[in-house]
Amino acid sequence: MLRLAVLTVSLLAGAAQAEDLEALKIDTRRNALPVLPKVVGMMQETVAAKGPVEAIPVCKEKAPQLLKEQAAKTGWDMRRVSLRTRNPERGTPDVWEARQLADFNIRAANGEKVETLETGEIVTDNGKQVYRYIRAIPVGEVCLTCHGPADKVDGSLRSQLAKSYPHDTAFGYERGQIRGALTVKRPL
Ligand code: HEC
Repeated sequence: MLRLAVLTVSLLAGAAQAEDLEALKIDTRRNALPVLPKVVGMMQETVAAKGPVEAIPVCKEKAPQLLKEQAAKTGWDMRRVSLRTRNPERGTPDVWEARQLADFNIRAANGEKVETLETGEIVTDNGKQVYRYIRAIPVGEVCLTCHGPADKVDGSLRSQLAKSYPHDTAFGYERGQIRGALTVKRPL
């Protein structure tokens, strides 16, 4: 009897935790995800109006700045990471992020839609509980201008990128692949 009671209590605790996780995920999405379509829109407009070289600052400055603003508003860490970075100083994933990105690649290969790939988890970070969330960033048409196969990228654009990014591994993507991810760490 006692054992049954213990089991019931732990099942209920499990259910409560699942509910908390779902609430955290919904709240994190609401605060972090709107940045993604904003960057895509800005990128499309700038490439069309000013050309790709002038659009470099959208990925280089605007996207990180929008994330920084959201991070300041919420008090959470937010950044973009990738398994193949253009800027390794900013975009190199930590172990948790690298594991999730590898898992996203497997899930995509198994037919899951890239634009909805996400994971949220409570983990211990430096002895403190934090909520970590990561969401795949798909390669859209406009992204190919600068992240497509290197031999298809405009020559002057390529030399411009080479000046700032000597360790660039962010060419060679195809439409619909996973370019990287938006990642969030929030204190609990
Ligand atoms: C005009 C050129 C250009 C276009 C178009 C472009 N990017 Fe980028 N992208 C860059 C540059 C430059 C960086 C390096 C930014 C930095 O210094 O942090 C970058 C970096 C990134 C990163 C951070 C990880 C890394 O590789 O360093 C992600 C994620 C990313 N781009 C996604 C996209 C997506 C998604 C699109 C399409 C919506 C896109 N980019 C279109 C130039 C571009």
